[in-house]
Amino acid sequence: MKRVLNKILEKKQTYTNLPLFQFMRDSSLTEEERMAFYPCMAHFILSFSDINKYMLREEPATDAYQQRVNIHTYEDDHHWPWYLEDFTKLGFDRLCSPTSWMRFLWSDETRQNRILTYRLATLISNANAIERIAVIEAIEETGNVLFSTMLSLAKAIEARRGIQLRYCGEFHFSLESGHSVGSDRDEIAEIPMDESNQVRCLAIVDEVFALFEAWTNELLHYAKH
Ligand SMILES: [Fe+2]
Repeated sequence: MKRVLNKILEKKQTYTNLPLFQFMRDSSLTEEERMAFYPCMAHFILSFSDINKYMLREEPATDAYQQRVNIHTYEDDHHWPWYLEDFTKLGFDRLCSPTSWMRFLWSDETRQNRILTYRLATLISNANAIERIAVIEAIEETGNVLFSTMLSLAKAIEARRGIQLRYCGEFHFSLESGHSVGSDRDEIAEIPMDESNQVRCLAIVDEVFALFEAWTNELLHYAKH
C-alpha cells in the first residue's frame, strides 16, 4: 500500500493549494467571510454518515481489512450533529425557509455535493476491503486539509464570540487523525497488494481527489456569490 499512500500525499499537496483553501487563508477577509461556504457543504457532510454506516461498513467483517474499515466507520459516522450545531452557532439557521433550503440542496448549484456522495458510494460498492482502506485514506487526507484550514478560523471566531465550534474547531480536529482510525500510516503502508489491486487503488485515489476538487470549487463559488 506504500505506493498508494505516497500518491495520496502527492495529491494532497496539490489539493492544499486549491482556490477554496487560498480563499480560506486570505487574511484580507473576515473569518466569517472565509467560512461563508459552510452551508453549501450540508448535503455531503450529512450524507457522509450514511456512507460510513451503509456503504463502507459490512457486518460481520469477512476479513481483517474489512474489520479495520468497520472500526473506522464507527468513529466517522457520528460527526454530523456537530456540523449542525455549528451551523446554528454561525447564524445560518436564519438563511431561508425550509422549502427554499431543500430546493437549494437539490439544485444544480450544489450538484457536486450530491455527485460526491453518489460516486463515492459506487466506488465503495465495487471495492474490496483493501481498496476501501485506500478510499478512506484519500478521504481522510482531504478532510485533514479542510479541517486544519478551518481550525484557525474557528479559533478566531470562538475567541471573539465566546462560543465553542465543535465541528469546525479543535474538538473535531483532534478526532480526525488523517488516517483510518486505529491504524497508523506505517501499518497501512505494510498492507500487501498485488499489481491489479494497486492499479485499482491508484485509480480510486485519482477519482476521490478529482471529486473532492470539484466539490471545493462548488463551495468556493457559493461563498463568493
Ligand atoms: Fe469527522
